[in-house]
Amino acid sequence: MDITGEINYATFEIAQQRSKELEKDITANPSKYRVLTGDRPTGNLHIGHYFGSLKNRVRIQNLGVETYIVIADYQVLTDRDAFDRISEYVYALTVDYLACGLDPEKHKTYIFPHSHVPELNQLLLPFLTLVSNSELNRNPTIKEEISASSQNIINAGMYVYPVHQAADILFCKSNIVPVGKDQLPHIELTRTIARRFNNKYRPVFREPFGLLSETPMILGLDGSQKMSKSRNNSIAIKSTAEETLKMVKTAKTDSERFITYDPENRPEVANLLRISALCLDTSPEKLAGEIGDAGAKRLKEVATDALNTYFAPIREKRIQLEKDKQYIQSILRRGIEHGRNVAEQTLAEVREAMNMKLW
Ligand code: TRP
Repeated sequence: MDITGEINYATFEIAQQRSKELEKDITANPSKYRVLTGDRPTGNLHIGHYFGSLKNRVRIQNLGVETYIVIADYQVLTDRDAFDRISEYVYALTVDYLACGLDPEKHKTYIFPHSHVPELNQLLLPFLTLVSNSELNRNPTIKEEISASSQNIINAGMYVYPVHQAADILFCKSNIVPVGKDQLPHIELTRTIARRFNNKYRPVFREPFGLLSETPMILGLDGSQKMSKSRNNSIAIKSTAEETLKMVKTAKTDSERFITYDPENRPEVANLLRISALCLDTSPEKLAGEIGDAGAKRLKEVATDALNTYFAPIREKRIQLEKDKQYIQSILRRGIEHGRNVAEQTLAEVREAMNMKLW
């Protein structure tokens, strides 16, 4: 078959515009949509994850949209050798999800590690035959991850994981994938795979859209790069009030006393204002006006209090949940069972479409 039509990897503006329209329609017609998104289990989630994506997932779940959350444990192996803590991190991630309000008991929400859904993984094989090597090599997110990698050898899984991610997304025929900007190339690849499959065999899949969050990116406490645990510039959701205080104290500010909201020229101060404003449900401009000449010291006090007040109930719930191993396991078992039922059906359709059903 011909692998025709270039993958358009540069679609940020289009995705942004489309996200706005989708947001409106999801609110008006939640039953039209099925959401899938996910994370790699590499540690506890931080407040950047919370405001950038978790809060949004909970909101969409609460609208009544079916929500699938894949814990991408296989993906961890693409850029690191360490596997000794995967199970611990799957646990931590699940506890974070539940503490933040994802609720598989009350809603149609399913949480599962993809390694436990074999029928999902099997979709990888036909999907690999629908893309070319050069298309995988050109994926800008993969290129960045390779250049940032400390691995001596880049394993083949690194090039291929976006195809696996297409299996994560397509196995349940989701049509909305809430993600950050860096994941858009993978969504574009997923759409291409769905389209090529449907054209070559017969229509089985929908082409899903990436949904970008409206919250601007939260930077780390250094104010210069993305918040991330490995850069030691993050505040974990589970941090205690004291740990939060300590971390905010390390945050970079600048030498100007009077506090203004000026993201362009004062990114560090702007970032602290934005984080505080999100917690206090106000605007960073207004908050800057209130702090004014009380300076950076006051700004940090405001940020610390805002974070500790906002996250107090989440942290409290987290402590309770963390003790209940049985319960956390039952949540995942339920997610796996549902995921497998759905994946089995899709795989049966795929086999039939490819003429691989037994006679
Ligand atoms: N690649 C994503 C990340 O690193 C995680 C992920 C795996 C994912 N499968 C997914 C995200 C499917 C969205 C949909 O953050």
